Amino acid sequence: MSARHLLGIAELEVADIERLLRLTDSFVEVGRRRMPKVPALQGRTVTWLFYESSTRTRLSFEQAAKRLSADTLNFSVPTSSVNKGESLRDTVATIEAMGVDAIVVRHASSGVPHQVARWVSGSVINAGDGWHEHPTQALLDCYTIRDHLGGLDGLHIAIVGDINHSRVARSDVWAFTKLGAEVTLVAPPTLLPPSVEGWPVRVDHDLDAVLPTVDVVYLLRMQRERMLEALLPSLREYTACYGLTRRRVDLLRDKAIVMHPGPMNRGVEIAADVADLPRSVVIDQVRNGVAVRMAVLYDLLGSGADLSRDLPGRDAR
Ligand code: NCD
Repeated sequence: MSARHLLGIAELEVADIERLLRLTDSFVEVGRRRMPKVPALQGRTVTWLFYESSTRTRLSFEQAAKRLSADTLNFSVPTSSVNKGESLRDTVATIEAMGVDAIVVRHASSGVPHQVARWVSGSVINAGDGWHEHPTQALLDCYTIRDHLGGLDGLHIAIVGDINHSRVARSDVWAFTKLGAEVTLVAPPTLLPPSVEGWPVRVDHDLDAVLPTVDVVYLLRMQRERMLEALLPSLREYTACYGLTRRRVDLLRDKAIVMHPGPMNRGVEIAADVADLPRSVVIDQVRNGVAVRMAVLYDLLGSGADLSRDLPGRDAR
């Protein structure tokens, strides 16, 4: 990975992903302590520039930065001078002038974190750019799969739903296939990207036929805020064909797990009771997200910090 930024999974080597997952193990261990905090990033400052809504990603980065003892500058686009017409470039220059070491960026347009990375001297982390990438989501998904199923090599993973508008799907396809999994995308043709033929995946439209063959079923939300036209006859019809209903769960193998990046629309892509089954690992994904983001922040900002001091008996690098 480029030493300074985390902009996408596509540009990571397998070794980078594996290093970050190993580092995550150490931070999961920190999270279990009575005092789940290490001094690794003392004196460093992290801030966020979120131009789109978020619950999990935003809070999880904040929790991660605090557990590493970094200082955090809270910036909220809706209450900032962005509302007074300030440009992205001026906003970034203003934040940078205050002295920040890392900016976590979410934006509705693909490529914005890359643009910000060209303007600043600190680190930039992509927390979701348009339909493009959401690398920390993919890392926490890989970590969660590894935790439940032992590894990704040789697994069969179905990603189901609104693939076209999903940065999570793009980052996950890269990450899952780099780690040796086979991926099948299951969606109506209107929700698949035109470029899908170039992706390292299979495509299927018959969820009932795919479910008995998978180790992981990964559901996506219908991202209606990104749809420029009506791509589905109705949500009810979508649920009938592609929703993970109770009946469909019974088609899964015993050990297969159900994942979702959140926010879930219960009753649409996932039945309300299915979301709460033991094989649904949605809350584990959220929990692991904190440790994964600690690993990413530490990896980008922690050079010089001696983690082995904070994690006795362990050489985390
Ligand atoms: C996703 C996102 O914003 O890309 N959520 C998340 O970060 N966990 C997925 C979504 O909005 O559906």
